[in-house]
Amino acid sequence: MTAQELRKKYFDFFTAKGHKIIPSAPLIPENDPTVLFTTAGMHPLIPFLLGERHPAGKKLVSVQKCIRTADIEEVGDDTHLTFFEMLGNWSLGDYFKKEAIEWSFEFLTSKKWLGLEKEKLAVSVFAGDKDAPFDEEAYGLWKNLVISEKRIAKLPKKNNWWGPAGETGPCGPDSEMFYWIGQTEAPEIFDPEDSQWVEIWNDVFMQYNKTKEGKYEVLKQQNVDTGMGLERTFAILNNEPSVYETELFKGIVLVIRKLASLEDYESSFDRLYNAGSIVNQEVDNLKERAEKMLSIRIIADHIKAAVFILAEGLEPSNTERGYVLRRLIRRAVRYGKFLGINRSFTFQVAQPIIGIYQDVYPELLKNKDFIEEQLIREEEKFSKTLEQGLKELRVLENQLASITGRQGFDLYQSYGFPKEMIREEARKVSENFDQEFDEALKKHQELSRTASAGMFKAGLADHSEIAIKYHTATHLLQQALRDVLGREVGQKGSNINAERLRFDFSYGQKMTAEQIKKVEDIVNEKINEALPAMLKEMSLAEAKASGAIGLFAEKYGDRVKVYSIGDYSKEICGGPHVQNTKELGHFKIIKEEAVSQGVRRIKAVLE
Ligand code: SER
Repeated sequence: MTAQELRKKYFDFFTAKGHKIIPSAPLIPENDPTVLFTTAGMHPLIPFLLGERHPAGKKLVSVQKCIRTADIEEVGDDTHLTFFEMLGNWSLGDYFKKEAIEWSFEFLTSKKWLGLEKEKLAVSVFAGDKDAPFDEEAYGLWKNLVISEKRIAKLPKKNNWWGPAGETGPCGPDSEMFYWIGQTEAPEIFDPEDSQWVEIWNDVFMQYNKTKEGKYEVLKQQNVDTGMGLERTFAILNNEPSVYETELFKGIVLVIRKLASLEDYESSFDRLYNAGSIVNQEVDNLKERAEKMLSIRIIADHIKAAVFILAEGLEPSNTERGYVLRRLIRRAVRYGKFLGINRSFTFQVAQPIIGIYQDVYPELLKNKDFIEEQLIREEEKFSKTLEQGLKELRVLENQLASITGRQGFDLYQSYGFPKEMIREEARKVSENFDQEFDEALKKHQELSRTASAGMFKAGLADHSEIAIKYHTATHLLQQALRDVLGREVGQKGSNINAERLRFDFSYGQKMTAEQIKKVEDIVNEKINEALPAMLKEMSLAEAKASGAIGLFAEKYGDRVKVYSIGDYSKEICGGPHVQNTKELGHFKIIKEEAVSQGVRRIKAVLE
């Protein structure tokens, strides 16, 4: 089976069950301030999970591109990836547990669909705690489907609960499906701790709303959110020991092996490494090889993620999304150096990635030049930093007999040297180098996790209230810009967080102070006029004929939603919006600047 066949089967199965296909949303969320990247199929659907009507209906199916960096230390094992595709089916207040579970089981095991073996399937359900009861319904449904009750694990919130995305919002128990990938027969009893049971699919039953007080209220609209990992499932279907042996990685791995003159890649060897059995091996040679295999995988994973992010026009930088992108590229370069690749190489790794995905994700080919250019540029910048780091290492070595783990970690922090590379480069490292390094890293990770958790602190519900206001303000802003600057103004990008809106638009010159003032005045005038925001659904053709503007029309398929604000602005848009502009407060432009040739950017706040 090819990956495209798997995507198609999923669509065919769920459209036959009455679902409408919706396209993948971008990796860089348009109006969601709570995440840096789209991490699951549910993210772009949050307004609809909260009750907003979706123009395609109540039953949806999608393949969503996702980026997750939380598991970055696990990348390189058989199943964890930074970029992955998530197959998902959705009920927005339509069907619930019975259909979700029975359809999951049918799709996985029926010969007509994936035809996986029932004997190798296990599941988990929520065990219950003080906040919500044991998920008896899910248990009861699975009992009739899996080969024995010993294959159903009851697990706590830590494992079997999803959401809320912030501190408050929709959430609920989930039920996960696992498949046995071991070489032996699947054990009678399901042990979720055994990594030979691979999680492939998660059915989330959103039936609660977590309140500010920490209570779990039963939701009016009960949703189903499912997520199946495409790469994992695909590896299992093709009997491959890891995702890196599938067609979604093979070509990429091959290019890296050639660049590193490591043609003798053995996948069975990685299984040993991942099972942990050779970590304690005395044989140095084996350990060194394991590290090299791991490096190849990390490079393949990181450059794939970087290519997909670059394809959406983002550049590496030192803040937020740009910083994540920078780290991915630099981490790959470091592992490349560790493999002995001493020239610019990441753009070469990008070639097979674009080749594998260009038919499914046309943005890759469309932005090929930009992607390559950015990779080359970032690699050059980083090489200079690395040179400085090496100099620093030599200075340290002149002063000390050996490099300690703490010093190694400082080098990692300042110059991005990975542990393996320091060990390799240093003439001598101290006896407990690894241990000290790992401890320092762990402490650092805990700190940065706390810092990034701050981003979600206000909770989804609070954030979305602010985001909704900014979203409506963005519509007013676009129309005001068109009034003041002319019809050449078109949306090039939009981003909202809890502090401000950011709007990119086509326009050839810097705006004058008078023009900025005029735009501000118009938006405030419209706010003061207390205009209602109104929603109408229509066909795309009707929307265009009515004069509605909108850049992302293709995202919504045939039927679209058109939001009017009084009779001032009319846009094709998924929503949501405030009911009345008087909710917005006072609008102020805080910055107007160039983004690139012919594209300007405005940052504005509501006070
Ligand atoms: N939101 C759930 C997940 O990401 C199911 O899609 O696992």
